[in-house]
Amino acid sequence: MNIAIFGTGYVGLVSGTCFADFGNKVICVDIDKSKINALKKGKVSFYEPGLKELVLRNSKEERLKFTCNAKKAVQNSEIIFICVGTPSKQNGEANLDFVFQVAKDVGLFMNDYKVIVDKSTVPVGTAEKIKRIICKNSKIDFDVVSNPEFLREGAAVKDFQNPDRVVVGSNSEKAKNIMAHLYKSVTRVGRPIMFTDIKTSELIKYVSNAMLATRISFMNEISHLCESTGANIKDVARGVGLDKRIGSRFLQAGPGYGGSCFPKDVKALAQSLEQFGLPSNILRAVDYVNERQKRSLVPKLKKFIPKLECKKIAIWGLSFKPRTSDIRDSPALVVIEQLKNEYADVFAYDPEAMPEAKKYVKGVTYVNNAYEALKDADALMILTEWDQFREPDFELMKQLMRGLIIIDGRNIYNSEPVSKGFKYIGIGR
Ligand SMILES: NC(=O)c1ccc[n+]([C@@H]2O[C@H](COP(=O)([O-])OP(=O)(O)OC[C@H]3O[C@@H](n4cnc5c(N)ncnc54)[C@H](O)[C@@H]3O)[C@@H](O)[C@H]2O)c1
Repeated sequence: MNIAIFGTGYVGLVSGTCFADFGNKVICVDIDKSKINALKKGKVSFYEPGLKELVLRNSKEERLKFTCNAKKAVQNSEIIFICVGTPSKQNGEANLDFVFQVAKDVGLFMNDYKVIVDKSTVPVGTAEKIKRIICKNSKIDFDVVSNPEFLREGAAVKDFQNPDRVVVGSNSEKAKNIMAHLYKSVTRVGRPIMFTDIKTSELIKYVSNAMLATRISFMNEISHLCESTGANIKDVARGVGLDKRIGSRFLQAGPGYGGSCFPKDVKALAQSLEQFGLPSNILRAVDYVNERQKRSLVPKLKKFIPKLECKKIAIWGLSFKPRTSDIRDSPALVVIEQLKNEYADVFAYDPEAMPEAKKYVKGVTYVNNAYEALKDADALMILTEWDQFREPDFELMKQLMRGLIIIDGRNIYNSEPVSKGFKYIGIGR
């Protein structure tokens, strides 16, 4: 099938590349010329395991192309995916300007029947608005479909090829059949495709993310009770998660959730409820607890070092989670801001996110490896659970550091740091 993908960010590039790898002809469009030029040369602007290799292979075999020319992409495709960003407005509502711009382009350039698929995360009712915009600009027949994306950064290619489920919201039999055909490579390996009406599909995405965020905030709130009583949140999570009705995932207490999805999607869903005059108490609490959690690490550090001025603080991990270079809404940004406000000297290391961090987070010394950050450090704060931080050389750390203090925002260690002579605080233990 001929497919156009609007937006070459995490969702668009992974979707487009994987559809090409399934044998389709895919043309990816972006308004960012530098991104498109780089992609034409096989360069991917963010780190995602396995993606670059797939981009190169499918480009070489001419199933995957890149362009800034929206008209060409629309006219050469039967299916058009909207994969552009839907960031938060000041009030938390989803900003749909990018989505509506694509709808306008599609309406202007459409030359025959198309299925327009919204993959961006959007509030319930957005497909209807997309339809209206296209109708305003075109008399040609078309269908709008909702097909939210559930891939996780850091495992995006694997998730796309082998998803828990594909959700398709469609009110048209014709579009439904086209979508079923498109996802054959996924259903063939036994992954389910679920068809719903459009509004239900739009809502499933927000509710999924909000449910996961709720579990995290709930455990983060309980972690404080653990700290006050001497209970251990890791064991609480394990004991609770062994209950089959609950399950073990997304029960890890930590520095608060970040990334480009959970924070904005929780806020946007709360906004949607409120726009209908409905209370959103749970979602507002989830968001509030998360913001508070991000701010709870520096006070832990200050238990050991009350005055941070001119103290050298090493940071391990900047991305919002491991195996990605994405720092959007990462807890590390809040921690670094707090440290800078107290005039601490911050030395940071992350295996993949430093180029991104250098662009947006100033006043930090970025170093080339984890141990370099520790030289004469008064304390170490671990903010992302990259595998390479899990088994460090504690003896070498002792030699390098001035103060033997570890604040472990991800609970990656158990008794090792204390047995090696470090002062150590995790979360909820
Ligand atoms: N990142 C994730 O893990 C993830 C997972 C599931 C769903 N989502 C959702 O998918 C959507 C996209 O997220 P993302 O992280 O890929 O965004 P992103 O910010 O990484 O990429 C968006 C891209 O769209 C481009 N763009 C903007 N306007 C355009 C236009 N008119 N035409 C062509 N390109 C245009 C931008 O230049 C940018 O490259 C969001 O709604 C997000 O909530 C994201």
